[in-house]
Amino acid sequence: MSEDKKSTTIEKIVSLCKRRGFIFPSSEIYGGFAAVYDFGTYGVELENNIKKEWWKYMVQIREDIIGLDSSIFMSPKVWEASGHVSGFSDPLTECKQCHLRLRVDHLLEDAGIVADEKMSEEEINKIFDENKAKIKCPVCIASNFSEVKKFNLLVKSNLGNFTEDWSKGPVYLRGETCQGIYVNYKNVVNSSRVKIPFGIAQIGKAFRNEITARQFIFRTREFEQMEMQYFTNPEQEMVEYEKLRQYRWQYYTKNLGFKEENLKWHKHDNLVFYAKEAYDIEYNYPFGFKELEGVHARGNYDLTQHTKFSGKELSYVDPFTGEKYIPHIIESSVGVGRTMLAAICDAYTEEEINGEKRIVLKFKPNLAPVKVAVFPLMKNKPELVVKAKEIYDSLKMQFMCEFDDNGNIGKRYRRQDEIGTPYCVTVDFETLEDGAVTVRDRDTMEQKRIKIEELSSFLKENLK
Ligand code: GAP
Repeated sequence: MSEDKKSTTIEKIVSLCKRRGFIFPSSEIYGGFAAVYDFGTYGVELENNIKKEWWKYMVQIREDIIGLDSSIFMSPKVWEASGHVSGFSDPLTECKQCHLRLRVDHLLEDAGIVADEKMSEEEINKIFDENKAKIKCPVCIASNFSEVKKFNLLVKSNLGNFTEDWSKGPVYLRGETCQGIYVNYKNVVNSSRVKIPFGIAQIGKAFRNEITARQFIFRTREFEQMEMQYFTNPEQEMVEYEKLRQYRWQYYTKNLGFKEENLKWHKHDNLVFYAKEAYDIEYNYPFGFKELEGVHARGNYDLTQHTKFSGKELSYVDPFTGEKYIPHIIESSVGVGRTMLAAICDAYTEEEINGEKRIVLKFKPNLAPVKVAVFPLMKNKPELVVKAKEIYDSLKMQFMCEFDDNGNIGKRYRRQDEIGTPYCVTVDFETLEDGAVTVRDRDTMEQKRIKIEELSSFLKENLK
């Protein structure tokens, strides 16, 4: 058996995701809807497993972190205070020949020129002008671009803002979930027993008018974020920051089982003015190492801004020392879709067995959409079907299971391999005699006989 990881391309991942019901383009029968995707049968299981694992790791096992679920619509003032109305933008240019709109920092990056979205319009125009001649439109290959403009990413809604003067501006769909955490900081302190240092975590949808739609679910216009904001004493900010960085690294390598060589830290050189330090955890996607998660030390910018714009006191009084200060915040922020894509790429394996290609998603069991598949050896033997159904009915109460009697056993194994099911259980004629089933391991393809009454404890032990 030979393994070939290098052959993983984004085209193969997209094709597998469509074929096996993980991910579909949105509104596909209408020709699709750019940069928006739907999750199918196995996609939604994987998505739920990722969220469940994150919540367990970030909330359930942490005495110092509690959960929140804030709304998507917020007062427009939140987005003024946060700086999103004035500064949440990406540099945009238009190809004058085919009118494609493009992100200038990405065009420059692809040409090997250092640039980022935080640069001012002036700065990025200067770099773009100096390098325009070497840059070509990826679609029509022309080299004729418009002046760079900063394009705001907030998505406007027409929700009636009945309590406010409508002329003051639109209501936005939230551009990040953490603003809901900041504006609830005082509510949480007043209603729970948390004391600094503590964190508030939430999972929820965010919306952005991303300029370019590319790289599958890596960059979408509607996506879910899993964010944790940790409130600290100013002196402790960087100590807690280092702890959080280590904690997040462990999550990917130990909890999700990602290969360490596919992960790396990227330190930001061009920091926003209030940030103390910013690192991203990058994943080695088929299109290269790209940001999976941001772990940033944000100083006291967020609560200072919300104090200023709301007029409400958001400082903290230490119950032991009486010290009063505006908490500093460190954050961990990651997209569900980006984690899903990393999980699928990390698990994707092509093997050659007896001259045939086997595609298998070697997910860590906690991420696998289906944990166990149960088969009767033959579809047309009622005694086998009844026994297999009986086993399926008892296992499905504990694990996400699938019953399959379609096609031959070989085909059923291939299908379960492609969705990453760790174990397949087959009921055959011997089962009716000895009360044992054949259990096949996804990764080694080894088969062993296990007594039906021992099946549940075997699976519990091996699906951790
Ligand atoms: N609160 C900080 C924040 O939102 P960000 O770097 O803009 O920071 C954090 O986003 C994470 O959210 C990213 O690391 C990525 O995982 C995910 N993310 C951001 N924009 C995304 C998009 N357009 N599509 C999918 N995921 C996205």
